[in-house]
Amino acid sequence: MYDETRPHRTAAVIPAAGRGTRLGPGAPKALRSLGGIPMLIHAVRAMARSRAVSLVVVVAPPDGAAEVKNLLDEHALPGGAAGGSWGRTDFLVVPGGETRQQSVRAGLDALPDGITSVLIHDAARPLVPVDTVDAVVEAVRAGAPAVVPAMPLADTVKEVEPGEPGEPEPVVATPERARLRAVQTPQGFDLATLVRAHERIAVNGEGATDDAGMVEKLGVPVVLVPGHEEAFKVTRPLDLILADAVLARRRATDVY
Ligand code: CTP
Ligand code: MG
Repeated sequence: MYDETRPHRTAAVIPAAGRGTRLGPGAPKALRSLGGIPMLIHAVRAMARSRAVSLVVVVAPPDGAAEVKNLLDEHALPGGAAGGSWGRTDFLVVPGGETRQQSVRAGLDALPDGITSVLIHDAARPLVPVDTVDAVVEAVRAGAPAVVPAMPLADTVKEVEPGEPGEPEPVVATPERARLRAVQTPQGFDLATLVRAHERIAVNGEGATDDAGMVEKLGVPVVLVPGHEEAFKVTRPLDLILADAVLARRRATDVY
């Protein structure tokens, strides 16, 4: 468990409180199994693998905090410093909220004094490579207030006037694809800047789906660094098949 006397600088907050509606019926998405291990555990390990991350705050489904604590204990690295620890990385579990924005806020509120920068990482991106995590941390520590891993798009994107489901939708515009990026997580922030964004920007509807977008609204510059194709978000059933295939390939080639 978290030791107040240990110095921490960069923490990771993992919002994991969503239902996973688009994945179909079943357990909350973060608790679904990937290669025999809950998706959330993969995501925590992905953060803990970075030497820069000394604390991971998991934001659990509102009624699932105790279950998530048990999962973290169960999957702790054997022989860690405190018997049930994750080596150098401590963890906390807090209950989440109705929207992703509220869940991230709950995670930020749980951070102890002494943290200066924070990564926000979707539990639904369990396979992000450590090099991507480190690249984000490095850019934040070099002075960027907000850093986002991003990828060029494969598909051309249309802006539409949304219509009734199943009805044809009128196209409003076609943004130039070369100028568009799909953003991933972990997104890295100067902690004070992200906290300020959360204090100033109210939750509307589903809340912000992108943390950097909130910082942009403050007028603070946001920069992109290269993301990774394996940092894709598990959203729909086909994504589970892809994630299993990536894991199987890693196990076969023993990269991790
Ligand atoms: N999330 C959260 N709290 C919420 C909603 C979402 O912590 N109230 C988290 C999810 O657990 C996920 C991340 O935010 O790790 C990204 O959200 P998304 O992929 O949309 O996951 P879900 O909201 O669970 O999925 P869906 O939208 O299909 O229900
Ligand atoms: Mg969602």
